Amino acid sequence: MRNGPGVCLGRFAFASLAAMSERPNDFGAFWLPFTPNRDFKANPRMIARAEGMYFHSDDGRALLDACSGLWCSNLGHGRKQIANAIASAAHELDFAPTFQFGHPAAFTLAERLAQLAPKGLDHVFFVNSGSEACDAALKIARAYWQKKGQGGRFRLIGREKAYHGVLFGGISVGGLANNRKFYGPLVPGTDDHLPLPYDAAMRFTRGEPEKGADHADALDALVALHGAETIAAVIVEPMSGSAGVFAAPKDYLKRLRAACDRHGILLIFDEVITGFGRLGHAFAAERYGVVPDMITFAKGVTNGAVPMGGVIVAGHVHEAFMAGPSHAVELFHGHTYSAHPLACAAGLAALDLYRDEDLYARALALEPAFEAAVHGLKDAPRVVDIRNVGLAAGIDIAPDPAAPGLRGYEAMRRAFSEENMVIRVSGDTIALAPALVVSEAEIDRMVTGVRTVLGKIV
Ligand SMILES: Cc1ncc(COP(=O)(O)O)c(C=O)c1O
Repeated sequence: MRNGPGVCLGRFAFASLAAMSERPNDFGAFWLPFTPNRDFKANPRMIARAEGMYFHSDDGRALLDACSGLWCSNLGHGRKQIANAIASAAHELDFAPTFQFGHPAAFTLAERLAQLAPKGLDHVFFVNSGSEACDAALKIARAYWQKKGQGGRFRLIGREKAYHGVLFGGISVGGLANNRKFYGPLVPGTDDHLPLPYDAAMRFTRGEPEKGADHADALDALVALHGAETIAAVIVEPMSGSAGVFAAPKDYLKRLRAACDRHGILLIFDEVITGFGRLGHAFAAERYGVVPDMITFAKGVTNGAVPMGGVIVAGHVHEAFMAGPSHAVELFHGHTYSAHPLACAAGLAALDLYRDEDLYARALALEPAFEAAVHGLKDAPRVVDIRNVGLAAGIDIAPDPAAPGLRGYEAMRRAFSEENMVIRVSGDTIALAPALVVSEAEIDRMVTGVRTVLGKIV
């Protein structure tokens, strides 16, 4: 049996609200993403509401949110300014097409984002998720070279262990085997991946590793193999997030930028996680003093409150498209919901909050305390590596040789049910990435909770 809507309008409104927090009778229909569905449905972890640093379970427990939802609610949950902005937009303009039409908030948000991005990145193409942002950036890169009369530049180079979402472009340049191996053949021209700039000697590094910038030279080897004239773009996460928080070694991104410049290759930073304060700046590009040709963003732009993503594009890339007859479409790409009015409203409110509360600077100031706290787990049971940068940390647990991923999963389950915490795990790596409003006491609680859980898993 399922919860049904009420019969009259008044009851319908009531039933809809109740359905948000009441446990459903039937867990069958919803196929959960990136989740072991059978195990979940046998023992559901249900979140009913959220406020500040906390989720609240449907059995009334306050759960410390240790990963900003899914790396997206960087301002903490339940921000009234965002909720009010969304509500006003829904009343004022529930939808407007952005194919051949426009609405004011879309232009204002684009302008605000361009101002936040490094100088020269001044045009914004809106989509609805990080995955769509990555595929849009890859398509823009290929189309750019066609516009420039160099259509032979078709190769798109990603990196081992990279996560660029789940669409075909993103999984092709991505480097996580489970996300790729069931879906081949993948996009032609995406077989080459740069190495992850990491090796065992870097275990327990605090912040950016001192050595390892030379991993960027692997691009020269690919150029030697294929010829620069076949390579359109390189896409990297300034910090590999989903792979388990791998910071870029010092000067690595500068060296990669220089290699791209030498060979005329476009450089795309996937800032879906690193954007909006995660590394203590609006974008990681600023932290590393490197200007890519495109930045993808999503998640924190609306604080996760409404789906939105986009690509911030350098002027010279955009310019290549602004040719030909003025009545002709310049880029055959877009979504029904590109620059959706509710998402734009949420985005503008979120950007106000980041600015008014000076939260990028707050994240930067908190980084040393966060780093010290997470590295305090070095002697916790089964911990084999800890990495951190900004307000993000990856804690590797020695895998059960017979069942890789099981200990990580167990840690997440116990954190939820016994420590009242929501942590993110990917395989046997625990990721901590609290909202930028987190207190030092909450960071300590997170770390203590992880230590307790690690002491219990077998
Ligand atoms: C770096 C990066 N790119 C792309 C994505 C995909 O974003 P979405 O889940 O919104 O499609 C993610 C999601 O975690 C990400 O971390």
